[in-house]
Amino acid sequence: MEFKSKIKTIEWTGSCSRMVDQTLIPYEYKMVDIKSSKEMFDAIRDMIVRGAPAIGIAGAHGVVLAAMEIAKKTQDKSVFLNELKKHAEYLKSARPTAVNLMWAVDKQYELAKNSENSISGIVDELKENGIKLENEDIEINKKIGDYGAELVKQGATILTHCNAGALATVGYGTALGVVRSAYAKDNTIQVFADETRPRLQGARITTFELVTDGIPVTLITDGMSGYFMKKGMIDMVVVGADRIAANGDTANKIGTYNLAIAAKYHNVPFYIAAPLSTIDTSINTGDEIPIEERGHEEVTHVNGKRICAEGVKVINPGFDVTPNELISGIITEKGVLYPDYKESIKQAFSS
Ligand code: MRU
Repeated sequence: MEFKSKIKTIEWTGSCSRMVDQTLIPYEYKMVDIKSSKEMFDAIRDMIVRGAPAIGIAGAHGVVLAAMEIAKKTQDKSVFLNELKKHAEYLKSARPTAVNLMWAVDKQYELAKNSENSISGIVDELKENGIKLENEDIEINKKIGDYGAELVKQGATILTHCNAGALATVGYGTALGVVRSAYAKDNTIQVFADETRPRLQGARITTFELVTDGIPVTLITDGMSGYFMKKGMIDMVVVGADRIAANGDTANKIGTYNLAIAAKYHNVPFYIAAPLSTIDTSINTGDEIPIEERGHEEVTHVNGKRICAEGVKVINPGFDVTPNELISGIITEKGVLYPDYKESIKQAFSS
């Protein structure tokens, strides 16, 4: 059977960007319309849309909205392109770690810059390209899912962190794409989901997706993974990525690094599932990946209620970097990349 996820996280409607408001999940599954480039900046920063590939598409739609706004103010192409560049830079600053945002926004800006069309023609081209990127994202995820499923043994328990599912992409998912493709072949597999403090993407979003699709999932707190690995209850770890350096070092949701260390100690294979657009070949190692620092209330409060003493110091990095030597393989739309990652990544881009 082919496993279909009905979720479409984000899509261009013809006049605006429509997306699932992920801050409401699991209480409500509600679509919101984003109608201006400023609203798009806020939606990305406030995590109404989240997950590297979904943020990328949001950025692409953001450029379309910016182009529509600027087109109302000028008919001079060089003024238009100058303004568009400023808006593109602003959109890219909404979240610094997920490179898909920079990738998609730059792609849109380059398209506008190189176009020989009139301004209104460029706006149409940007809309079409945004829709193309949406469709490609789903196709890419299915390929990632199918390559990854080949690594999943009969009846396996897969541990995942954060949410790298349909809701982190346009649809289907990367790490959860692997789960969906594997489950389609073998419905005895199951998932263990880390809750993923502080934003609880695992508890709120991953369990929502998997329960909705009828895929068995057990929720655990972040500190439990070593315990279950020691008991031999975890067969593999599959997580997503926000940015992968040219040597395979991988930034993903904070806590991924701890998980990779625990997996290495217990000889549990640890895989990254990500599209090639998440690989940033302009940086050599993970040390160069900018790590987003988020608001302290994400740590001090749960559901608006303070959970710690007033005056406590807080640090809240959103991501950490897992060194390449802890990664068993990187599952991409071009197949599974293995160490030496410098070489295998280079080959994936040239094939
Ligand atoms: O802060 P978030 O929720 O945007 O972080 C998401 C993750 O870390 C995901 O694992 C990553 O973006 C991959 S999504 C396919």
